[in-house]
Amino acid sequence: MNLKDWPWSRSSPIKLKQVRAEIQSTLAAQDFETPGNLSLLLLGQALNQPKTWLLTHPEYEIQPKEFSTLQKALNRLLQGVPLPHILGEWEFYGRLFLVSPDVLIPRPETELLVERAIALAGRLPRPLIADVGTGSGAIAVSLAAELPRAALTATDISRPALRLARRNAARQAITSIHFLQADLLLPLAAKFDLICANLPYIPTATLQELDVAQWEPTLALDGGPTGLDLITRLLHQAQTRLTPAGSLLLEIESTLGQETLALAQSVFPNAEVTLRQDLAGRNRLVEIHSN
Ligand SMILES: C[S@@+](CC[C@H](N)C(=O)[O-])C[C@H]1O[C@@H](n2cnc3c(N)ncnc32)[C@H](O)[C@@H]1O
Repeated sequence: MNLKDWPWSRSSPIKLKQVRAEIQSTLAAQDFETPGNLSLLLLGQALNQPKTWLLTHPEYEIQPKEFSTLQKALNRLLQGVPLPHILGEWEFYGRLFLVSPDVLIPRPETELLVERAIALAGRLPRPLIADVGTGSGAIAVSLAAELPRAALTATDISRPALRLARRNAARQAITSIHFLQADLLLPLAAKFDLICANLPYIPTATLQELDVAQWEPTLALDGGPTGLDLITRLLHQAQTRLTPAGSLLLEIESTLGQETLALAQSVFPNAEVTLRQDLAGRNRLVEIHSN
């Protein structure tokens, strides 16, 4: 039996447990990882119910509208559409963020940057923080929620991305972020205690070979011929936009760790500059402390 060809009829209603098993086996046959979890996520969205409800109501009879929502979602997943685009939201640092094709889907590896930002800015009574290239607002909103005394500025060159970031802040009842359409930090004269940025860092030629380029905005991924165009420009802008003891946190392409480190050291010769690895042991962050 195939969910795609399964006609719903009132005389033979389909139960949740049957649909769940069917989705799971369809996904397993297509080599999807964790088909059990995926089936629960699709069911959760179509039925608007949490996982615990789905697990405790196996006899629930799926309604026609729910069934057609499930069919569409499953077909999109089988066509390669990223799961966050199908669900419309994705978890980052313990909160759900709206996502759309206008923004980068927040990645778990970026949580390292958020952790380091909290450790650094959490020591200050009222830190001034900038999130450059905010996208969905994942970094800025997480920091605003975790550091209620902080004042944040979040910039992005993309107007649609900023619109979504504002909605994500509103969903978390965050009012401490000033969103600004800008080329990096160009129009800002303020000095920040902390500048955070997860900028596009994939070299153009590499990007053309990657699947993500099909689904996520080039503006969020393409770091120019070397991958370091945006990072280089931000480093130079940051020279005059950090407080005397300010810090800069840059998420980096793991294969460009040494190059990015050397670049940061050349722009900030008197600062302490370090490279940090993520849990998988890959170079993930360049930290600059101006002392
Ligand atoms: C890799 S995405 C990161 C999004 C988000 N900060 C995150 O970590 O999920 C990079 C973001 O930088 C933005 N961007 C690209 N060029 C920019 C520029 N010159 N000035 C400001 N933002 C820029 C893109 O629109 C995109 O939203």
